[in-house]
Amino acid sequence: MTILDVSPGVFRAARPRHYVMAPPTHFAVTYEINPWMDASRGVDRALAHRQWDALRQTYLSLGHRVEVLDAVPGLPDMVFAANGGTVIGGTAVLAQFKFAQRADEALAHRAWMTAAGHRPIPTTGVNEGQGDLLTVGSMILAGTGFRTDRHSHAEIAAITGLPVISLQLVDPRFYHLDVALAVLDDHTIAYFPAAFAPESRLLLAELFPGAIEVGEADALALGLNAVSDGRHVVLPAAATGFAARLRDAGFAPIAIDLSELIKGGGSVKCCTLEVHP
Ligand code: ARG
Repeated sequence: MTILDVSPGVFRAARPRHYVMAPPTHFAVTYEINPWMDASRGVDRALAHRQWDALRQTYLSLGHRVEVLDAVPGLPDMVFAANGGTVIGGTAVLAQFKFAQRADEALAHRAWMTAAGHRPIPTTGVNEGQGDLLTVGSMILAGTGFRTDRHSHAEIAAITGLPVISLQLVDPRFYHLDVALAVLDDHTIAYFPAAFAPESRLLLAELFPGAIEVGEADALALGLNAVSDGRHVVLPAAATGFAARLRDAGFAPIAIDLSELIKGGGSVKCCTLEVHP
C-alpha cells in the first residue's frame, strides 16, 4: 500500500517499511559510554516498556511491519536495535561494537539475520550499524569520529556495492550519525550542522541543498533521532521546533515520548533497525 497525499506545493508519499525492534526488558544504565548516560540515576523499566510499545504500535498503525527480537539478559542497551547492523538489498552487514559491554548484541543480531535468510557479513573495524550508517536512496551516509571507524566505511562500500559518504562527527553529545542527521525520504535529510566538521558540512550542503537545518534545542531533544516512511516522521515529542519545520515542508510529524530511553542516549531511530529492500 502506498499512501499518497498532496499538500499545497508539496508531494509526500509514504512507503511501507520493515523494522526490527528489541523490547527494553533488561534496559538499565549500568555503565556510561556516551554523555547522556548517568549510571547513578535509575530508570523506570515499566515506563520504558510502555513508551517503547507506543512506538511499536505507531509503526503498526501506519501499516509497517515490525519484527521483535527477544531481549537478552545482561545486554541493557539492546533496546537500541538500530546499532545491530545494516540490511540493504538482501545484504546484511553485522555490527562490530566499540565497547565490550555491547559486543554480545551482535550475536543476537546475527541470529535473526541468519534466520531471515541473510548471510551477515562482519567488518573488521568498528561499525555500529544504523547508528552510523544511514541509507538515503541508493547511497549510504556514514558517520565516524566516536564509534564507527572510517576504514569500516570502505569495507561497507565493498560489501554493499553502494557509494558510502563519510561524515566526520565532532560533538560527543552527537556521538552517532543518527542523533545528528535524519533521513526523511530518498532525497531529503535534516541535520544539526554544528555536529559535523566543516568539510562534512560543505559536503552535506552540496549533496542536499533542500535539507532542513535543525537548531540546537531540537538536536538536544534528540529530535533528529527520527524515523520517516517518506511522509510520516516519528520523532521525540520534545523536538517541537523540528516538528513545525517538518509540517511546513509537507511531512506529517508524529510525536513520541521516549523520556526513559533518552537516559541511555537514544530515542526513536536508535530503537528501530530498518530492513531496506
Ligand atoms: N547507550 C547506547 C550507546 O551508547 C545508546 C545507543 C544509541 N543508538 C543509536 N542508534 N544512536 O551505545
